[in-house]
Amino acid sequence: MSLTADQTVEALRAAGEPTRLRILSLLAGEELSVMEMSRILDQSQPRVSRHLKLMTDAGLIERFPDGARVYYRLSHDAHARRLIDTVLDILADDAGEADHRRLDEVRKDREQAAESYFEQIAPQWDRLRSLYVSEAAVEAALEKAVGPGPFKRVVDLGTGSGRMLTLFGKKAKMSVGLDLSQNMLNIARANVSKAGLNKVELRHGDIFATRLPAGSADLVIVHQVLHYLADPFAAVAEAARLVCPGGRLVIVDFAPHDFEHMREAHQHRRLGFADHEINGWLTDSGLTPSPPIALPPDNEGLTVTIWTAERPVNASLAQARKTA
Ligand SMILES: C[S@@+](CC[C@H](N)C(=O)[O-])C[C@H]1O[C@@H](n2cnc3c(N)ncnc32)[C@H](O)[C@@H]1O
Repeated sequence: MSLTADQTVEALRAAGEPTRLRILSLLAGEELSVMEMSRILDQSQPRVSRHLKLMTDAGLIERFPDGARVYYRLSHDAHARRLIDTVLDILADDAGEADHRRLDEVRKDREQAAESYFEQIAPQWDRLRSLYVSEAAVEAALEKAVGPGPFKRVVDLGTGSGRMLTLFGKKAKMSVGLDLSQNMLNIARANVSKAGLNKVELRHGDIFATRLPAGSADLVIVHQVLHYLADPFAAVAEAARLVCPGGRLVIVDFAPHDFEHMREAHQHRRLGFADHEINGWLTDSGLTPSPPIALPPDNEGLTVTIWTAERPVNASLAQARKTA
């Protein structure tokens, strides 16, 4: 179904204002909070919020609360997206240059804070990981969800200290662990060698651009990584791209929670994910999700969810390549 004339006029009206065009152009890059947009646009939060409300009402953007914060992203509706893309396409290349420079600064600040956090906590990561979750229960459920293998190629994105590689490496002909932090990779190297695994490759790289071939893995794992990322959908799409027909992507992360202190203390950007959000991203990336598995904490910790999805056996890789 396409948009009615009234809906089209409403959407065009909502987009038809200079600040709102600037906002659409920023959100085409990544999801942002009101606070971040206000800093980039150099306008007060109430003023930015008014623009955001108008565009949310017109279906151009989506609002989603995350703990005490509210984030915004471009609508996933195909018609709204076509309209936004057309409008942004005819804007002069340099129209939002200054905004995008400031967005880069905001992004850099965030990435530097997260990277230095991981470089610093690398030696304690295995202890920190078990602080908020019942690790044994999560790993037992994960092994069950993934199945007995054997696997041809396991790819663990954001491998950290390599825990997933030591868990699944024995069942794989070969595995690859990728991470941005050199300190984490050094620890992963030691752990993998202690576990006696020799068909493991550890690579320095970015989950948003892994440079691994499409359809090259029958098991891709993203374990406790998504909540640190500025664009979790892009990371899911890149992870899905690597899954071969008949292969599986497994995402493990927190269910929505309100532990606000995790942002400052542990650099979390998102306070967990709802099932419909992750399953929507998996489906948009060409995979077929299975029902999620929720693992409540056994103390005052957090609920962990395991989302799995398969690329249908007879699926072509064309879709996987499109998301790359
Ligand atoms: C919380 S740790 C999880 C490590 C491991 N998956 C586990 O569960 O033990 C998150 C890891 O993601 C890595 N990371 C964060 N952003 C990344 C990115 N853009 N690309 C690759 N790795 C990233 C961090 O360096 C860190 O090692």
